[in-house]
Amino acid sequence: MKNKKKLIFANLKMNLNSNSLNKLIDDFLAKELSFEDVDVIFAPPVIYLNEIRKKNKNKNFMLAAQNVFYEDSGAYTGEISPLMLRDVGCEWVMIGHSERRIHTLETNEMINKKIISSSKHNLNIIFCVGESYEERRNGKTYEVISDQLKRGLRDINEKQLRNIVIGYEPVWVIGSGEAANLKDIDEVHTFIDKQLNIMYPESSIEPKIVYGGSVNNNNISDIMKIQNVDGVLVGNASLDTNKFCDIVITVGNLND
Ligand code: 13P
Repeated sequence: MKNKKKLIFANLKMNLNSNSLNKLIDDFLAKELSFEDVDVIFAPPVIYLNEIRKKNKNKNFMLAAQNVFYEDSGAYTGEISPLMLRDVGCEWVMIGHSERRIHTLETNEMINKKIISSSKHNLNIIFCVGESYEERRNGKTYEVISDQLKRGLRDINEKQLRNIVIGYEPVWVIGSGEAANLKDIDEVHTFIDKQLNIMYPESSIEPKIVYGGSVNNNNISDIMKIQNVDGVLVGNASLDTNKFCDIVITVGNLND
């Protein structure tokens, strides 16, 4: 069973600085948005997590890291562990974003280790999957996504699914300004839902599936009407407070 809460992630990627990020969060808080059935999750660059957490006195949003390492501590220069994320009050972590798969050569095996470790430390996980343009053109979309799901979730049991959300992000659509068409989103979300049922036949927990890729204040309403879309991952549009708040308001009002 899924609860009806919708999730809106602001993936700020490697953008902003201390000043502009603080302003963005202040502007968001000033709008005093609060919808019972919507959770907003900001994913700033990890170095700013702590200072943003301090601004969040009334728990208007949650925090996500954009990445994590799979060991708890030790000689892993430059890495951040799930325990450290917990330590600074971060509740969520993004794992397997295509930009990490592409630019830092993150493999399904590394992603799997990160999911296992983050789950052990009770972080909520947004596990991203998605096909490249080439893969879609060659009719490999379902094969690729099924493989990413199986290898990413290897050794994850039914109970651990409780803290996992799947993010579907078709790679070529990210940052393009144009979201995938609604039929494709619908088909892939339905496929992911079925795939999870096959992988976890006994599970009463159905992970939420959120869509990412050029979501903005104009297309949000149509995207959220798709049956298996439980929320969105917003990149570019989350850097503009007005656009982002419009997205939150639209999703909040859809649940009325
Ligand atoms: P854009 O909204 O800029 O396409 O980015 C989507 C994304 O990668 C969210 O994780």
